[in-house]
Amino acid sequence: MKNILESRFMVEMMKTASNMYRLGWDERNGGNISYLLADYDLSLYLDLSKVERVIPLGFDASPLKGQCFLVTGSGKYFKNVETDPENNLGIVRIGEDGVSAELLWGFKDGGRMTSEFPAHLMSHMARLEKDEENRIVMHCHPTYTLAMNYVHPLDEKEFTHSLWQMCTECIVVFPDGVGVLPWMLCGTNEIGEATAEKMKTFRLVIWGMHGIYGAGKTMDETFGLIETVEKAAEIYMLTSSLPRINTISDDQLKELAEYFGVKYRKDFLSC
Ligand code: 13P
Ligand code: ZN
Repeated sequence: MKNILESRFMVEMMKTASNMYRLGWDERNGGNISYLLADYDLSLYLDLSKVERVIPLGFDASPLKGQCFLVTGSGKYFKNVETDPENNLGIVRIGEDGVSAELLWGFKDGGRMTSEFPAHLMSHMARLEKDEENRIVMHCHPTYTLAMNYVHPLDEKEFTHSLWQMCTECIVVFPDGVGVLPWMLCGTNEIGEATAEKMKTFRLVIWGMHGIYGAGKTMDETFGLIETVEKAAEIYMLTSSLPRINTISDDQLKELAEYFGVKYRKDFLSC
């Protein structure tokens, strides 16, 4: 057997959790990541017939039957993932009944998947319908994005437009914009369903006054989406209380999107 702690997916997960922690996006146990391991032969690392525990999901994830996910644990601190992966992370396989998860590795101290697993799995299902290569769902509490939630209307057209105006590359990085949900109770199937509904058209979803969700093909892509939103939100928060004397116009945003050939939300511009 190969050492799972040296696998590419594990190293990516550990490094990303540390990066997110250092950026201040994941205080205490804030945030969670799930990584669909469809591209890896897990039998090189694990005895796949050995199920440590069966954990009920509380919702139906039948379309993901048999799929394995590396996922952060509920109540676990991102700060500790890299130094203690076996307690802070787990690998689960969605059971044949579609409503339970079989623990194959990790959560050594009796832990379980993030409380946001409904939102994660439902988002995976929604994104896979759009892009069969989607692998990552990431949630965190980035400081400036969250700050912006308190001073900017929680309207996805207006919110996206403000972000696009903050850095030239925003419309190229997330031309599909940012979906926005109002404040909702977290950890529930309801917020999971609402997130997945947004994920049908967006790869980024703001949870009003809570944080952000991102989805993508790779850890880098997903991290980069959230990082770009957070950078734009930082510029917004640094400038919004000052007189604005320059701006990127809608004509310029259109010019950028057309030059880089991205399919953008034309209805989020006024021209
Ligand atoms: P978990 O510790 O259950 O992952 O929850 C953290 C969080 O960010 C809730 O939204
Ligand atoms: Zn959260």
